[in-house]
Amino acid sequence: MSVTEATRRLGIRTPIIQGPFGGGLSTFKLVATVSNAGGLGSFGAHVTPPDQIATLTREARAQTNQPFALNLWISDHDPGGLQLTQAEFDAVYRRFEPYFRELGVDKPERPQRYHQSYEAQIEALLEARPPVFSFVFGVPSPKIMAECKRRGIVTIGTATSIAEGRALDEAGVDLIVATGMEAGGHRVSFLGRAEDQLMGTFALTQIVAARVKAPVIAAGGIVDGRGVRAALALGAQAAQLGTAFLACEESGTTPEHRAILFSDQAQHTMLTRAFSGRLARGVRNRWTDEVAPTLRTIAPFPVQNWFMSRLRPAAVKAGRTDLVSLWAGQVAPNLKHRTAGALMDALIADLA
Ligand SMILES: Cc1cc2nc3c(=O)[nH]c(=O)nc-3n(C[C@H](O)[C@H](O)[C@H](O)COP(=O)(O)O)c2cc1C
Repeated sequence: MSVTEATRRLGIRTPIIQGPFGGGLSTFKLVATVSNAGGLGSFGAHVTPPDQIATLTREARAQTNQPFALNLWISDHDPGGLQLTQAEFDAVYRRFEPYFRELGVDKPERPQRYHQSYEAQIEALLEARPPVFSFVFGVPSPKIMAECKRRGIVTIGTATSIAEGRALDEAGVDLIVATGMEAGGHRVSFLGRAEDQLMGTFALTQIVAARVKAPVIAAGGIVDGRGVRAALALGAQAAQLGTAFLACEESGTTPEHRAILFSDQAQHTMLTRAFSGRLARGVRNRWTDEVAPTLRTIAPFPVQNWFMSRLRPAAVKAGRTDLVSLWAGQVAPNLKHRTAGALMDALIADLA
């Protein structure tokens, strides 16, 4: 049962993928634990500067001799999110000002850019040649796809709809993640508004798997072996788990976030643009209650995300969970394991 078209293409032993975490929440320890156990560990690198991608890849290779993925976001800004005039910057700041004051954070200087450039990151990634390149929010250009093939880098794209699955398949992507709206983190749609692409994992996996040549990886709402088996029964060739690994002590999140994932608060997640400017699922807290209803005042990605990231260190230092993103998928209430080793052991035993 454990050998599938996905495990063959990826060169792994069990059809389990640790979903990448952007925003600095990935760790080498988590990647190595999963890859060494026979799954595919993934490192989210969308906030990594291009000149650090080679080091990052070397570090991952030093910790595991098994395949692992580096993950990038193809679209690095939404309309209006690339550059801001000082007046536009000040207007966004005014909306954040009460929270900056509350946390004792000074007004930041207007930056040159709000996010790393995908164009520069992908050049660095091609040079670094990780075993697997996974990506969201788009399809790489034919030139990049050809370079990946030439360099032996396996590609994994991500679809939130049938149309996105087809677009990835036509581009020759090696494997396709079908991610349902149950999933934690961003809704990574690239054809149409994310709000209009809200199919669940159960439906999406079946319909995408029936329409694409590439093996499908189901993501969203899976935390245990039973979920992985269900995904395989629906036509997936592997399952990608995010929230279940985020909750493990090897992930890069805070102990406070982890504690919330294991608490009753995790029963209440929502999709909102309030944290980053792009639609994403996290646990409801004061920030979502106060900012999500004022949708029209939320700045485009990555500007909203950048302002939140200025607040985050002070909020984390003060142990404040009311003003930070608490990413979580809908299935968080069923989380069981607190280490990635224990989670992998349980998943593998269940698939045996
Ligand atoms: C905190 C967090 C950050 C994430 N960041 C990324 C990312 O940068 N790139 C990506 O491809 N997927 C990202 N994801 C999605 C996961 O890799 C995975 O597909 C998803 O969490 C699966 O759904 P689940 O949370 O229900 O298990 C993220 C998920 C979370 C919870």
